Amino acid sequence: MAILVTGGAGYIGSHTVVMLLEAGYEVVALDNLCNSHPEVFNRIETITGKRPAFVEGDIRDRACLDALFADYTIDSVIHFAGLKAVGESVAKPLEYYQNNVHGSVVLCEAMAAAGVKRLVFSSSATVYGEDAPVPYVETMPRGKTSNPYGTSKAMVEQVLTDLVLSDPQWSVALLRYFNPIGAHSSGLIGEDPQGIPNNLMPFISQVAVGKREQLSIFGNDYDTADGTCVRDYLHVMDLAEGHLKSLSCLDKPGAHIYNLGTGNGLSVLEMVNSFITVTGVDIPYQFAPRRDGDLPAFWADASKAERELGWSTRYSLADMMQDTWKWQSQNPEGYR
Ligand code: NAD
Ligand code: WQD
Repeated sequence: MAILVTGGAGYIGSHTVVMLLEAGYEVVALDNLCNSHPEVFNRIETITGKRPAFVEGDIRDRACLDALFADYTIDSVIHFAGLKAVGESVAKPLEYYQNNVHGSVVLCEAMAAAGVKRLVFSSSATVYGEDAPVPYVETMPRGKTSNPYGTSKAMVEQVLTDLVLSDPQWSVALLRYFNPIGAHSSGLIGEDPQGIPNNLMPFISQVAVGKREQLSIFGNDYDTADGTCVRDYLHVMDLAEGHLKSLSCLDKPGAHIYNLGTGNGLSVLEMVNSFITVTGVDIPYQFAPRRDGDLPAFWADASKAERELGWSTRYSLADMMQDTWKWQSQNPEGYR
């Protein structure tokens, strides 16, 4: 029995593959490599001594999925594959709905045809919408999303919720990630953004390594302690472990929603200062105007995952900084 990991060559997928292999699972990774590099599988092999099966293909390609389910005995699917750049989703909404929503539907159709009805889905804190009070709790309704990326996540959550209602054999975990950062402690795998990074930590680490001149901090006039935005940053290995732990909830039919975060918010300035303190590398920055669509502050109520899955974060903020820097400094050009 194997776990199919869609998007298994990507940032969170690759760290989850490492954990699955180390826990003794057989893994099949499916990825079209639109935002990743196959070198990651050599690195995974160096870390774990094992190589996952890799199928280069697209979740929207039904024939490819049917062949995969015929070739391997899949027990459960962990579904990471998708596009994730918020700004790009505003410019190219159809691509995001095509890939993220249509792709997830095709994947579920192929799963149903193969009799595989256990799915873990990469959702996002963004589905709580623009007006939710903090901390975010799973009992809150999904809110008004502010961009097609976020809407695509909310739509897939709805599709999966309807699917489990239609057929009690299905069980689905909807994992709402907060802000994953960091890398495997070996420095062999990590986040490898193409072009100018959209997210805070990759930008900071590219400034540190000399690829960018300085960080622009988007807004210092928010109603937060130091005026900069607050987020719930968690180590990607903690997030990966959340996926392993969530597999157990699939024994119960239905849709199971879990926040995966630390439960603590940190400001942009706290993140920058922590990076400088931990690595000893200076990060020049300037304050810039607010970024469209940014919320002032949000973090998780992470108690449900602890109560029901026995999962909570273990890595410290210093670990997140140290591991980000180890990956970036050892691989200034990523996997290329
Ligand atoms: P990533 O881009 O590194 O990984 C996604 C992988 O999916 C890539 O390897 C890409 O090549 C692959 N892919 C994309 N479309 C595909 C398709 N149609 N068929 C096959 N493969 C495809 O992103 P990530 O940060 O690892 O995110 C993984 C998932 O988690 C995504 O669904 C993302 O939306 C979600 N998520 C990410 C974050 C975050 O901050 N990184 C937060 C919340 C949710
Ligand atoms: C964090 C903070 C920025 C870059 C996004 C998606 C979300 C989820 C995670 C997938 C914010 C500030 C950033 C920079 C900055 N992805 N910042 N200068 O916006 O919380 O979440 O990624 O689901 O859906 O929206 O993360 O890392 O982009 O930003 O000041 O150069 O850092 O304004 O306050 P965000 P982020």
